[in-house]
Amino acid sequence: MNVVILAAGMGKRMQSDLPKVLHPLAGKPLLSHVIDTARSLSPQHCCVVYGHGGDAVPTKLAAEDLSFVLQEPQLGTGHAVMQAMPMLQNNQPTLVLYGDVPLTTLATLQKLTQAAGKDKLAVLTVELDDPTGYGRIVRENSRIVRIVEQKDANDSERRIREVNTGILIAPTTHLKRWLANLSNDNAQGEYYLTDIIARAVEDGIPVESAQPAFAWETLGVNSKVQLAELERIHQHNIARQLLEQGVTLLDPARVDVRGALHCGRDVEIDVGCIFEGTVELADGVKIGAHCVIKNARIAKGAVIKPFCHIEEASVGAQAQIGPYARLRPGTTLAEDVHIGNFVEVKNSQLGAHSKANHLAYVGDATVGMRVNIGAGTITCNYDGANKHRTIIEDDVFIGSDTQLVAPVTVGKGATLGAGTTLTKDAPPDSLTVSRAKQISITGWQRPVKQKK
Ligand code: UD1
Ligand code: CA
Repeated sequence: MNVVILAAGMGKRMQSDLPKVLHPLAGKPLLSHVIDTARSLSPQHCCVVYGHGGDAVPTKLAAEDLSFVLQEPQLGTGHAVMQAMPMLQNNQPTLVLYGDVPLTTLATLQKLTQAAGKDKLAVLTVELDDPTGYGRIVRENSRIVRIVEQKDANDSERRIREVNTGILIAPTTHLKRWLANLSNDNAQGEYYLTDIIARAVEDGIPVESAQPAFAWETLGVNSKVQLAELERIHQHNIARQLLEQGVTLLDPARVDVRGALHCGRDVEIDVGCIFEGTVELADGVKIGAHCVIKNARIAKGAVIKPFCHIEEASVGAQAQIGPYARLRPGTTLAEDVHIGNFVEVKNSQLGAHSKANHLAYVGDATVGMRVNIGAGTITCNYDGANKHRTIIEDDVFIGSDTQLVAPVTVGKGATLGAGTTLTKDAPPDSLTVSRAKQISITGWQRPVKQKK
């Protein structure tokens, strides 16, 4: 099929400089949700009709399988589809979607396409308790005969509760002919896509309908209020799926997934966590409250305690992280590594059973196995111009408040005394310490406050 996504509307009520369809839902532009759903129908061609915001839409979402056409000025939904006409292949039907209606499911669209078959028109409709503002579905002898817009409807038509969601599919050759003959002689002076229904009836083309499984599938975004409402619906759906897969969510209303979260068995997630990008939590992983985890892999049985920030990092099996730990891009932690409170790790590998339990910065470092990094230890990886690596071999013990001025290597089994500023390599199996000798002055008097 061909897919046309209407995304030229201006979204004035968003009160924003960003084009409406680029506002994120679950961390991804509204329009990208629609494009991704369209893609899962494997269309021959997918065309986005954009308008407001200059080239922001095509620039942001450019992809090989998409084309973009500008609709300027915006003269209605029929006029919008007209702009895409040159892109549409005649031998297959055309599905029209809205770029600001992000939650329509694949199953519903399949139902609609099946209702249309190869040569019928099909409209996705819903019954609403309050149909105000929508185009009404007018039926005679239960067949759809036309759609009348709110502003053009008479009193009895306004009482119709079945409305047009806007999503429809039509045979392309007919669609092109109907569009070419649309008029804008109506209450809004617009070219209505909905007028093609009456044309189809005139031409003897059957008009079918399908209904979505859930009403939220057809909700659109016109304001920040509606955006926030859809975000909650979407997050609720994601949380439900996770629960159904066996993930324990301490409160399904207090988790946010902005991307793809893959969970193994017996995963537990406490409240207030945000997952972004692609995150994998293996079997038995526990995530404490208020963690933000982005593009990361947490291996079997690892425990992430509350208030951790983890980005582009990989955490080994049975590791213990946090509370209050920060793992920055390029961090790879092996099995049973412990990273404690106020420890920052960046672009570093830590071998199995190594620990940095308190107040440390480990950046651009290669750390072996069973290494103990004392409180207050930092790698001085940056000289103001370049970054350098620190190498800490297996079984090293680093005393508290040590600075490792990179590039520098600490040999296997070495011990660094507390307070050391290491500027040269430390040999294996020895104690290295740089520290002023301790002295004590007996009988020393504290200064006393002078009288003025
Ligand atoms: C339209 C339908 C109405 C339906 C409603 C569902 C028509 C004439 N009316 O109403 O039957 O109940 O959607 O929400 O089709 N757009 C463009 N270019 C334009 C105008 C609109 O790209 O010139 C896009 C908008 O960005 C939006 C979609 O088309 O994604 C619908 O536009 P909107 O103005 O919200 O729809 P209505 O005309 O109110
Ligand atoms: Ca609308």
